[in-house]
Amino acid sequence: MSANGASYKNRRTFAIISHPDAGKTTLTEKLLLSGGAIRAAGQVRARGERRRARSDWMKIEQERGISVSSSVMTFERNGIIYNLLDTPGHEDFSEDTYRTLTAVDAAIMVIDAAKGIETQTRKLFEVCRLRDIPIITFVNKIDREGRHALEILDEVQEALALDVSPQTWPVGMGSDFFGVYDWQAKKFHTSDGERGGAYTQTKDVSGLEDPILTEFAFDRIMDELEENVELGAEGYANFDLESFLDGHLTPVFFGSALRDYGIEELLDFIARCAPPPHSQSATGGRTITPDEGKVTGFVFKVQANMDPKHRDRIAFFRLCSGTFKRGMKLKHVRTGKQIAVTAPILFFAEEREIAEEAFPGDVIGIPNHGQLRVGDTLTEGEDIHVTGLPAFAPEILRRVRLGDTMKVKQMRQGLQDLAEEGLVQIFKPDIGSNWIVGVVGILQLDVVIERIRQEYGTEISFEPVNYSTARWIETDNATLAKMIENHRMSIANDRDDRPVFLFKNAWEVGYVGEKYPDVKFRETREIV
Ligand code: G4P
Repeated sequence: MSANGASYKNRRTFAIISHPDAGKTTLTEKLLLSGGAIRAAGQVRARGERRRARSDWMKIEQERGISVSSSVMTFERNGIIYNLLDTPGHEDFSEDTYRTLTAVDAAIMVIDAAKGIETQTRKLFEVCRLRDIPIITFVNKIDREGRHALEILDEVQEALALDVSPQTWPVGMGSDFFGVYDWQAKKFHTSDGERGGAYTQTKDVSGLEDPILTEFAFDRIMDELEENVELGAEGYANFDLESFLDGHLTPVFFGSALRDYGIEELLDFIARCAPPPHSQSATGGRTITPDEGKVTGFVFKVQANMDPKHRDRIAFFRLCSGTFKRGMKLKHVRTGKQIAVTAPILFFAEEREIAEEAFPGDVIGIPNHGQLRVGDTLTEGEDIHVTGLPAFAPEILRRVRLGDTMKVKQMRQGLQDLAEEGLVQIFKPDIGSNWIVGVVGILQLDVVIERIRQEYGTEISFEPVNYSTARWIETDNATLAKMIENHRMSIANDRDDRPVFLFKNAWEVGYVGEKYPDVKFRETREIV
């Protein structure tokens, strides 16, 4: 084992997935508080609100939750380094979320106890499942009236086809909320203030008959708890670490982010059971393991405007192997050039620091002027690309119209830059000079218009096109030439000059597909 063996093993890199309003921001804040990363509740939100006031497009960015200034939040608790990666809440930015999920080793799925599994939770869950990311379920807001605990467990089990393993139980809910019972550790988390107050203390109990519980909670609540625990033990899976790590079983915690219930249990569980950095697949059948000596890693997100005065960008780089040291020269595999990483940034909730070193699982920010883009791999010399970061066929296509025709260059530069950040995809039609942009969610278009105006001083608008989707074409040169000849109006190149077919509708996808049976029309493509 290499010298950094001991260090990467205490890294826990994870994200929170949820439907908007389930409590992700509140939970994030409480996790940071518990880890000592922020000093007062309300900071994550307050920062969000200040930003909200700044300008219109910032408002849109606000939709992305707290992601603008805190894409990564690192904190330490009991010797474990937690790297919490934020994912945009709004579904229009789901591509961004998808890519962020390529950089985590586990996820917390937050569910509102009254609403159960909602659409966005389900979508994000599917992404985690595709990648076999272990999921920890947090049923939030049990201090309010919600569904019955068993009903929620059944819903998770059935809707997501996942074994559930309850780790804690609510002791009452809503106006009769007394606390949370950890049935295996036999601990009762409650408030020393009034019933339903914020969590302040944990009491050791001998079991459900313990007077601490029976004399505290109503008989009715205790009967229900007893029934839950009994049915829970019989009807649901026992916790099995392997099954959890394989993504087949989810441990379920009941809690209230607002009232601090369940936070410590979550962090302790992550420390104990969530996996340290995983191995990463790369081109050429290569698997990068975290205990390798040399540094490799990939950029999963690029953020512009961290400092509005400069058009600088921060590339968020997840380290897959090796010990990174400040000042290191790394090979930028896409261009073959060396990049000296002299000012890498580590992100804490309130501060940024220059990172002197980083280990697998860590995320560092690399300031740059546009050299680095989403999907890029950096190594100590090896010519490999990390795989698994897809671009999706956009579902919304628009032609770009320029307000001032003298500013074609600025517009193109802007679109190219935003494409490299992963905000939009651009397609350059074979015929005609007006570029077409593709997005997954309509909000992305508003962000593009505002950012091109503010950062490139150019007014643009979008007009509808006769196409509804795009597919990457995979074929030999002769067939491609034939296709271009027959369908010149429908062919474009993406930002890397890869050929793309723009389709009018689903029928045409099928029709053209039949006409060219040997051609693959891809809905996704690897970003390398
Ligand atoms: P999100 O990031 O997932 O969108 O959710 P967020 O944390 O912003 O929470 C959404 C709303 O739910 C907030 O109320 C928040 O206070 C509330 N909430 C979060 N966790 C809990 C909980 O455990 N119990 C209860 N009762 N409420 C919770 P809001 O009124 O929209 O915002 P605010 O005015 O309270 O800030």
